[in-house]
Amino acid sequence: MGWNGLYSSAFERVRSSIGGVGTVLLAYNTNIDAIKYLDREDLEARIERAGVKEVLPYSEELPKRIESIQQLLGSILWSIRRGKAAELFVESCSTRFYMKRWGWDELRMGGQVGIMANLLGGVYGVPVIAHVPQLSKLQAGLFKDGPIYVPKAESGKINLVHPRDFEADEENCIHYIYEFPRGFRVFEFEAPRENRFIGSADDYNPNVVVRQEFEEHFEEIAEKAELAIISGLQALTEENYRGPFETIRAHLEVLEERGIPAHLEFAFTPDETVRKEILGLLGKFWSVGLNEVELASIIEVMGEKAIAERLLAHDPVDPVAVTEAMIKLAEKTGVRRIHFHTYGYYLALTNYRGEFVRDALLFAALAAAAKAKLGDVGSIDDIVKAMDVPVNEKARGIEEALAKEYGMEGGIAEISGYQLSFVPTKIVAKPRSTVGIGDTISSSAFVGEFALR
Ligand code: AMP
Ligand code: GLC
Repeated sequence: MGWNGLYSSAFERVRSSIGGVGTVLLAYNTNIDAIKYLDREDLEARIERAGVKEVLPYSEELPKRIESIQQLLGSILWSIRRGKAAELFVESCSTRFYMKRWGWDELRMGGQVGIMANLLGGVYGVPVIAHVPQLSKLQAGLFKDGPIYVPKAESGKINLVHPRDFEADEENCIHYIYEFPRGFRVFEFEAPRENRFIGSADDYNPNVVVRQEFEEHFEEIAEKAELAIISGLQALTEENYRGPFETIRAHLEVLEERGIPAHLEFAFTPDETVRKEILGLLGKFWSVGLNEVELASIIEVMGEKAIAERLLAHDPVDPVAVTEAMIKLAEKTGVRRIHFHTYGYYLALTNYRGEFVRDALLFAALAAAAKAKLGDVGSIDDIVKAMDVPVNEKARGIEEALAKEYGMEGGIAEISGYQLSFVPTKIVAKPRSTVGIGDTISSSAFVGEFALR
């Protein structure tokens, strides 16, 4: 069977079995994404007003956090020049106010937890319990209908309610997302790829502020779950990680005791100390999801600089370097599943075997293409609308390299006691938006795998 045949049969099987997946616990980051599609003239005028000479240095090297309008505009330029995503905490109130007045084109659900809650609960109908650090009216209104719950403590007991029925009036945690298409021009710069820069005007998610309900009643909450997905550790720093890590470690112990497989969505974590701490925690997870930049950054703190460099040297990413990096990571930490995704293909390394691992990746790739094509996936049947998106041509070379190196057939190979699964993805030429595709991929593949078991 060719890849198109494998795609449609994987989709049909996941669609008919996903209803059997139990409740998924999602923690910790949920926010509001205020999306602004950048306009060349507007951006150039803003940079000129702020001072080109003051802005440009930040497009060479990102600041650690944003403390001025010049840093904000320079960081946006940094992303455009490289076609790379970046996210920084916005410290200064005057810059937060500047972003607010600059405005947005769309408000959307944001944060890995929020996005996955809407996809799993609102689209796939899989029950989810979400951690939402601040439940403002605006935040609550962004949740889709469906089996999506937040825990509410009432007279010492935990009840699960839909976020809109939580009826709190807490703060808005807003992340300003500056999106640009491939070929977007500002002055002499041109974006090699579509992407975005994120400025978070949010004091809760970047610090992983854990709600009281989760601090005090975690065992009772975990009792209701069968799977867990953890995310949102990426913005922690050497200064503030200790407290949240204590809570997370305690939560992971509860999940481990109850035999609940947990997936870590590893977003780009600039702080090296935090990356090392995450590496130390990985063995407590069943699974981890990451892209090439994230894999290189974690392999680097393991002291494997040469592999890290190979991961970033080629486009598309060298799959043999990825496989070697995944094996090193699995051997060092004991994590059972590593799901790697990049522009054009995915790989999964598992310490268990079966075609269902590959098929869950295919389902995820179809969901990602639907998300890129439609912007928002309304129902599981929308996913099929991505079947006509062509399978990435460049992935043929990747598949050949894997066949030659590891004897891979039909996307599956056996290497040093692990199964390696590969799928070529479908690439949407002009995506509606790039935010949240990674979250769609990781959650669909993880949950899809348990649906197919
Ligand atoms: P992340 O790197 O975590 O933001 O996730 C982005 C992922 O989304 C990439 O690794 C690609 O696999 C996928 N992706 C990005 N752009 C597209 C597109 N236009 N069509 C399909 N998938 C895409
Ligand atoms: C990060 C950002 C959030 C965005 C998400 C998309 O969590 O903070 O604003 O929605 O990534 O993956």
